[in-house]
Amino acid sequence: MATFGPTKPFPAGFLWGVSTAAHQCEGNNRNNQWWEWEAAGKTRSGERSGLACDWWNKAEDDFDIARDMGLNALRFSVEWSRIEPRPGEWDRDAIQRYRQMLAGLHQRGLRPFVCLHHFSNPLWFENTGAFLHPDCVARFERFARKVVEELGDLCSDWLTFNEPNVYSVLGYQLGEFPPGQKGKLIRSIRVLANMARAHARAYEAIHQIQPGANVGWTQNYIVFQPVDDASPINQLACGVQSYFYNDIFTDFIHRGCTRSYIQPFCGKTADIQGKTDFAGVNVYGRVHVGLSIRRPATLFADVHIPMDMPQGDQPIGLPFPEITPGSITAIVEHIAKLGKPVYVLENGVPDRSDRIRPWLLANTVNEMRDLIARGIDLRGYFHWTLTDNFEWNQGWHLRFGLVELDPETQQRRLRPSARLYGEIARSNGAVEDGVLAEPEPENKVATKTQ
Ligand code: BGC
Repeated sequence: MATFGPTKPFPAGFLWGVSTAAHQCEGNNRNNQWWEWEAAGKTRSGERSGLACDWWNKAEDDFDIARDMGLNALRFSVEWSRIEPRPGEWDRDAIQRYRQMLAGLHQRGLRPFVCLHHFSNPLWFENTGAFLHPDCVARFERFARKVVEELGDLCSDWLTFNEPNVYSVLGYQLGEFPPGQKGKLIRSIRVLANMARAHARAYEAIHQIQPGANVGWTQNYIVFQPVDDASPINQLACGVQSYFYNDIFTDFIHRGCTRSYIQPFCGKTADIQGKTDFAGVNVYGRVHVGLSIRRPATLFADVHIPMDMPQGDQPIGLPFPEITPGSITAIVEHIAKLGKPVYVLENGVPDRSDRIRPWLLANTVNEMRDLIARGIDLRGYFHWTLTDNFEWNQGWHLRFGLVELDPETQQRRLRPSARLYGEIARSNGAVEDGVLAEPEPENKVATKTQ
């Protein structure tokens, strides 16, 4: 029994997709900083990406699964280190492989969204300072131009960056991502400012080459909840987290600047303003924040996840946001104020046994239906992710796939959620009542920042 009435349907053409990323799926990406990080034994799980999902050879097998599920869109990223293995040198075979993948998506009725940068850098770029190098903006623009010149006849939806906030915070403040630096707050803000400039230059370049392109980026948003609503000091700690994590990059693009006490570290950013065609959001959930003077690296916030909500796989080290109904609504409302069409470009849960993923999917769909009914221009939903893939620092420890993967044998098996999401996509948003009930919070483990 579907829960929606004819007054609240999803619009025709709403995109039901999945999101993926090159380094997490392709396998054997040996020429980027993540491969080195893994080889040096620096992932939390000690694991390496290896063959990943073997997409460099066989992405089309997974595209078949997405088509058979009834999806109509798929987001993937191109691997800079394959396309430009040395500065200014282009690899024809890599470009050809991406052309083949894009053609394969079109043949299967899947609209491609292509992201130019999803956390991985070519070694030559990383080893010369990445987004702190004085030429980083020009280097990224050169890469963006090349990709759009080569692939533009097969794609017109582009993301410049995936989650610049995660890249800068995990790489320069928390040390969880390469280059593994800790507590470098100002450096991480300079990285963000340079990525915003690179985004703006790539945005202009893409539009020069392809005037009708749909170009944006996607931001990871977390709902920050004070541990004690009544405490002004915790509210303050929470507000600081929320601004620094969620809003600095967005402010560069929508206002051309950040707050006056941060702007002096960023240089000129005024001409970035307005350079996006859509607002992309990656939404996972909520964390609880209290003030702690012992944690300068996290801007004096103690971040934790309480035990009372159902959770999926437990990460090693850093807490994973709590899956809470209402997160999608809070975040989409926040970003919709910017007046651009919105796409949810990632949403999911690490859940090997598929215990709470169906509940997450059903609630998310219902929240999105209400947002659209209230007039919000929400155009698509991309679940993270299609097939279990290499989860960065957590290796194979966290499983986000609608499809289960055994990385050793490369065997795939559809989880029940794959069937549910397929039904949702094929019916353009219908959800059975039964799936909406909250599962028991059986995986009760409170996690904290370490
Ligand atoms: C990233 C993905 C990642 C997912 C789950 C997002 O922040 O874009 O690459 O796998 O979260 O942690």
